[in-house]
Amino acid sequence: PPLDEILNLHDFEAVAKVVLPEKAWAYYSSASDDEITIRENRAAFQRVWFRPRILRDVSSVDWSTTILGCKSSLPVYISATALGKLGHPDGELNLTRAAAKHGVIQMIPTLASCSFDEIVDAASPGQPLFLQLYVNRDREITKKYVQHAEKRGVKALFITVDAPQLGRREKDMRMKSVDDSAGAKVQENQSGVKKDQGVSRAISSFIDPSLSWKDIPWFRSITNMHIILKGVSTPEDAILAYEAGCQGIVLSNHGGRQLDTSRSGLENLVDIVAALKQRGPWPNPNFSVFVDGGVRRASDVIKALALGASAVGIGRGFLYAFSSYGQEGVERAIEILRDEFEMNMRLIGARTISEIVPDMVDASALHSH
Ligand code: FNR
Repeated sequence: PPLDEILNLHDFEAVAKVVLPEKAWAYYSSASDDEITIRENRAAFQRVWFRPRILRDVSSVDWSTTILGCKSSLPVYISATALGKLGHPDGELNLTRAAAKHGVIQMIPTLASCSFDEIVDAASPGQPLFLQLYVNRDREITKKYVQHAEKRGVKALFITVDAPQLGRREKDMRMKSVDDSAGAKVQENQSGVKKDQGVSRAISSFIDPSLSWKDIPWFRSITNMHIILKGVSTPEDAILAYEAGCQGIVLSNHGGRQLDTSRSGLENLVDIVAALKQRGPWPNPNFSVFVDGGVRRASDVIKALALGASAVGIGRGFLYAFSSYGQEGVERAIEILRDEFEMNMRLIGARTISEIVPDMVDASALHSH
């Protein structure tokens, strides 16, 4: 369908399912084991209800914000998703260019199909970028990669901590062979790449399962970028991250692609915010809590913000947008979200992001399924 007939982010998924080669669809859409967590990521948002406030003069509303000190036109960032060229010949550059045009922040994946420098070169001057890091067994490779990213102006390092071993994404595993062009740059950048068991396994064999809390000071010693742990699920680990001097955490289950039957980031948010409130100032300007997983509507984002998130990440929504329509698809996705923000903020009675408060949601059903 023409792009102007796409009315929401779900529509991109329906198009991607039809237009993508079978192998790409399997890699992008798959989640681990019985795919219970990926369904729960959507379901959790449907257990939170709004408590809208009225008569607040919402003639002008503003949904812009800052994320880790960087301006963002939306309280949403583009989360890292590997192998963009499986979906579109321009791969991740579709995201970079659309993000530049609309003032959105992209998190560059370690496993990007385009090289890191190609992506940074495609950004506009001053465009904020984040980097998602898979830590290599060879720490020298990781050190060089991180320091190069900092030199090139990347603002924050999101270390993925929920993938010491890749989850079994069975749809993807049935597809066996690696797409050579999509994985080529990964093989160039990170050594130890094997080609046998499905796209994801093949390109991720360099990831170090020995990574531990003891490594955090080492990261601090090699970079001044903000350090965020991506893939936190419990108050215990949120506190450890805070005490380790990280600048934030992403409550994420990797889009349901890692430990199946783990809870959704949204559900974990409530307990984690409660634990952090007991430890330090709240909201804490030096420690941000992000959420991702299943976010497809501005209303989802607003629910997460009301419950204490600073911003949310979207993976598949943008991935399916460029798989279907390239850069224009991503731009359309951002515009759709922007229009949804305008309407939803007026309807709940919040004129700015800071007016989105806990009292605007009823989360009493969130923990009962
Ligand atoms: C991911 N995600 C991911 N995360 C990460 O830290 N490193 C990675 O390489 C990837 N790769 C990746 C590939 C694909 C195809 C998907 C769908 C996801 C997880 C991603 O950053 C994010 O946590 C989820 O995508 C969020 O869930 P939604 O928005 O896809 O529902």
